[in-house]
Amino acid sequence: MKGLILSGGKGTRLYPLTYTRAKQLIPVANKPVLVRVIEAIRDAGVEEIGVVVGQTAPEIREALGDGSRWQVKLTYIPQDSPDGLAHAVKIARPFLGDAPFVMFLGDNVIQGGISNLIRDFAGSDWNSQIVLKEVPNPAAYGVAVLRPDGSIERLIEKPPVPPSNLALVGIYMFDHHIFDAVHAIKPSARGELEITDAIQWLIEHGYRVYPHVHQGWWIDTGKATDMLDANSHVLEEITPTIAPDASIDNSQVDARVTLQSGAKVINSVIRGPTIIGVNTVIENSYVGPFTSIYSGVRVQNCEIERCIILENSEIIDIDLLLRDSIIGRDASLRRDSARPRGLKLNLGDHSKIWI
Ligand code: DAU
Repeated sequence: MKGLILSGGKGTRLYPLTYTRAKQLIPVANKPVLVRVIEAIRDAGVEEIGVVVGQTAPEIREALGDGSRWQVKLTYIPQDSPDGLAHAVKIARPFLGDAPFVMFLGDNVIQGGISNLIRDFAGSDWNSQIVLKEVPNPAAYGVAVLRPDGSIERLIEKPPVPPSNLALVGIYMFDHHIFDAVHAIKPSARGELEITDAIQWLIEHGYRVYPHVHQGWWIDTGKATDMLDANSHVLEEITPTIAPDASIDNSQVDARVTLQSGAKVINSVIRGPTIIGVNTVIENSYVGPFTSIYSGVRVQNCEIERCIILENSEIIDIDLLLRDSIIGRDASLRRDSARPRGLKLNLGDHSKIWI
């Protein structure tokens, strides 16, 4: 069994963060989503993984290298333009050969990993296994209609009027018949070769496609609110640890807090589940539940709750609670007491501020 991770695409729904960073590298609980995907595939016993990359290829290669840090072997597969998930499968053929494979979208996070799914697929005579999840907003996804016996009747990509609430999770297992399907289908109305259409082709041509309905949480981290939700879920599941060289001085740090190497907490209150990154300093502040603060950040005289703060930013002397926010790298958020008082902003394109 081989693995195929899709990490091309543009990530426009996460602007401005994704102007300067591949969306799959944005961290959830201080670990890039793409690394979580690699670990999930590795933990299921798959070591040979192809990574489809687009215009953010240099950054992704730099972050992942040859994969040896995670005990896997990575092969990069360049995709000239994001022409669809089925197009990505098509161009991955030289890497995949005739081996069965698991395809995982590089911006998906799922509870409980995929070991059971891979085991079920490997021990079956199915040509494909897809993962479904009941969601409140199926129009945003590929949607499945099941028959009363649980088999798949049809699949439709982002239907305006969804015929069911079962969304396709971005994890798929295929044998080599999928290559016949991706060559047979035509681009959709949005101009992409849709994997949903390729799987529908398999069903129509009598191949065995088995649906697994996932019961835990699943998040496609396409939007900022999804990132915050994924961050909260993952924080709830990690085992808290305090690095030996982290320091806590005159502070309350509860049992669900992780402090990474060199983190310093001074005169502050930290409530978990929360993670404070490498060499980050929290001083005279409150950091509330479901917050991930990455490395090299300085937080002083502030209150923060349910936020993701990326590396090397500073948040200083803000007297309102900062909540439900994502702050990018090297950002600076400071109080300015100069007159006349007002807001002074220096924002990137597509930034959003709520006052
Ligand atoms: O997240 C689940 C959904 O993923 C499914 O329910 C849909 O059926 C499926 O089409 C897909 O929809 P999205 O619109 O969310 O896909 P997106 O364009 O965000 O791409 C998903 C990942 O694949 C993302 O990490 C970028 C990568 N990608 C995307 C395209 C279109 C590629 O590597 N190459 C591509 O050509």
